[in-house]
Amino acid sequence: MSIKTVATINFKGGVGKTTVTWCLGDILSNFADSSVLLFDLDAQMSMTQAIALDADGNSSGKFDKWLDKTRKNKRDIFSVLRQHLDSDLSNFQPDNDFIYRLKKNYHFVPSIEHLYWLELESPDPGKGKFFVKNLLGRIQNSPNLPKYDYILFDCPPSFTMLSYSVLTCCDLILVPFNPDFFAARGVGMLITGLRHRIQPHPLPALGVFANRARTYAKQPTKAAAGWIGDVRMACEQTSRQNNIDVRFMGTWIPDRASLRDAITNRATPDELVVNFRSLWKEISRILK
Ligand SMILES: Nc1ncnc2c1ncn2[C@@H]1O[C@H](COP(=O)(O)OP(=O)(O)O)[C@@H](O)[C@H]1O
Ligand SMILES: [Mg+2]
Repeated sequence: MSIKTVATINFKGGVGKTTVTWCLGDILSNFADSSVLLFDLDAQMSMTQAIALDADGNSSGKFDKWLDKTRKNKRDIFSVLRQHLDSDLSNFQPDNDFIYRLKKNYHFVPSIEHLYWLELESPDPGKGKFFVKNLLGRIQNSPNLPKYDYILFDCPPSFTMLSYSVLTCCDLILVPFNPDFFAARGVGMLITGLRHRIQPHPLPALGVFANRARTYAKQPTKAAAGWIGDVRMACEQTSRQNNIDVRFMGTWIPDRASLRDAITNRATPDELVVNFRSLWKEISRILK
């Protein structure tokens, strides 16, 4: 099987990009028995901070020490991007000082706050557009890394050089939305905006799904179901009118306190794990 790449994006903050990407990484590495690489590309570093913390909120010393060393040795993602902009990546060998091993088959590239200032510091933004593609080439050819089945990117909630670079080389763009009054218009604008920004490059397939759906008796409440229906219609319309491959996912993720715990501490796989597995099934059908 060739490597598959998925990028999670929405310009709205707090819709669950980070949480969902992270949960999908867990589900894939645990249940699908796949080799997974997670990328945090958001300068806000939510995923990096979450991974640095134990479930009880204590910092895991091992990851912090690794991160310190990686930054000191300029093997963090920003330094590697600078190298790409200043010359190229032909001398860059991605290894365990760039990629952190969460588990044998589950790896992680953390973010760094310097990514905020990337556009300001970049001598050649045009060149930055090819960064992720080149980096993936280096990762796939590295003798010290596994052959990953899936690479998942948590993107920033904005359109940066880095977003461009991911969106033009990924196989699928995943768009979580929260079912509310603003969702249908927001998702429609996001899709047409992305297409406009990356053209003439064609937009990859998009997978749109509801996260944080309020439920009643295990089904979305009437209001949530109505807003989910509105987004489905907006997706169908946008897809038809702009000739974009937008797939609306039948799976929705409920609003659920301690969502992460339910995924991580899966002694008895509960309803939420079932939802995430079903979401992945839909995603993998698009990726085939
Ligand atoms: N399905 C869910 N149920 C309950 N809380 C959720 C769910 N998805 C996300 N959250 C919470 O919502 C907040 C924002 O999520 P996050 O993944 O950081 O969003 P984003 O990356 O889009 O900014 C976090 O506190 C997260 O724990
Ligand atoms: Mg986030």
